[in-house]
Amino acid sequence: MSTKPDRAAWLKGGTAACSPQAEKQARPQRLVLLGAPGVGKGTQAELLSQRLGACQLSTGDVFRAAKALNPCERTPALSAALDFMRQGKLVPDETVLDMVRERVGCLRCEGGFLLDGFPRTVAQAEALEHLLQQEKLQLDAVLSYDLPIEKIVSRLSGRRTCAGCKAVYHVETRPPKKPGVCDHCGGGLIQREDDRPESVRVRMEAYEKSTAPLADYYRQRNLLVSVSAEGTPEEILQRTLKALGGQR
Ligand code: AP5
Ligand code: MG
Repeated sequence: MSTKPDRAAWLKGGTAACSPQAEKQARPQRLVLLGAPGVGKGTQAELLSQRLGACQLSTGDVFRAAKALNPCERTPALSAALDFMRQGKLVPDETVLDMVRERVGCLRCEGGFLLDGFPRTVAQAEALEHLLQQEKLQLDAVLSYDLPIEKIVSRLSGRRTCAGCKAVYHVETRPPKKPGVCDHCGGGLIQREDDRPESVRVRMEAYEKSTAPLADYYRQRNLLVSVSAEGTPEEILQRTLKALGGQR
């Protein structure tokens, strides 16, 4: 079992602190991961986090963690968010932004950060820019992962996720050592509710309409780094590190 940070400050919010804390990096990397549902953002975020020491900040993981809360502990906005998510629709910008603002300490993390699944609309990207300006922080790059749709569908249908630490597996291409059990924390592996075909279709449409325009937004700011998501996770990681190296 590994001792990677549990991301409690991000997943739980409030006064929760990560254990162990992320190590301070000499040059913390502050990156955004863009790409269609299932392209492999979470998988790359996990690998990049091990390499760069930066923390994976996934907005989807926060909503999924909130599902475990007792229904009376959920705010109306959070209950509505979980409903949107189940259907494959985007959660309203205001709900997402409230959640990120509450966790602004994670943007200041001395290990750096890997934003995974946020921002997802131009309004969210503008709000992030504003938040980073206030904190006197800058993005180093926005990684945009591309893959043909048929390969994405096969990645989504075989995905399994740890109910505990949220690590991501695939029944064929990235199986756990012991079937159904997480290599990292020993938690049980589950299939995500929004990986049903009808929700996947809605998620792809939302991506095309609301998130794909972000590539232009970041290209105009000279931050966009396009990376092919073909091949094994390790090959994509190497391609990403090379592309980031070329940026500096
Ligand atoms: P979110 O959790 O962000 O999901 P997503 O963007 O749909 O992306 P996924 O997590 O499905 O895919 P991924 O790219 O991370 O791929 P993965 O690495 O798992 O959001 C979920 C929902 O939350 C949204 O629909 C929305 O409702 C809500 N939400 C979240 N953020 C929001 C926001 N900012 N605004 C509004 N709403 C928001 O890989 C997929 C599979 O492929 C895995 O099984 C993996 O093992 C396998 N795999 C990965 N890489 C490879 C490879 N190279 N070769 C073979 N298999 C691979
Ligand atoms: Mg993901």
